[in-house]
Amino acid sequence: MSSTFQLLVNGQSHRVTVDYDDTPLLYVLRDDLRLKGVRFGCGAGQCGACTVLIDGRAERSCELPVWSVEGRPITTIEGLATAGRMHPLQRAIIDGQAGQCGFCLSGIIMKAAELIERDHQPSREKLAAALDENLCRCGAHARILNAIERAWKEDSAGGGK
Ligand code: FES
Ligand code: FES
Repeated sequence: MSSTFQLLVNGQSHRVTVDYDDTPLLYVLRDDLRLKGVRFGCGAGQCGACTVLIDGRAERSCELPVWSVEGRPITTIEGLATAGRMHPLQRAIIDGQAGQCGFCLSGIIMKAAELIERDHQPSREKLAAALDENLCRCGAHARILNAIERAWKEDSAGGGK
């Protein structure tokens, strides 16, 4: 029997109907809401490609049944920009030409966004540890980390603006 849920995604309310209550949030975001920036990697909680923010915390959307996130603020990579301006992490990845195929990037950016929101001055080690379980099959992890770290330092030097 199908069920209907009210989801709050990127500041907008959406009513979605799914065949099963435990349909993963990832499927709903990609297939029903057409938010294709959220990636399907392993589908088993192992790679981090599907990471989104739930109540500001980074979570793997392939592991979250849709019923568990009803009414909770969900942010995807599409919702990270504000007032038409890219988030500094998005800008940093582009400026640093850090990605290769780009498949892992939205998950990595969402995970880094969670960390930077909570800890305004994460050390390189903390950043590396936080991103360690977001896999990059192109081996671009070090370059991505450099770009994030650089963005973060420039942001701090500019007084957090
Ligand atoms: S697709 Fe969710 S962790 Fe890999
Ligand atoms: S840039 Fe290709 S998977 Fe990370």
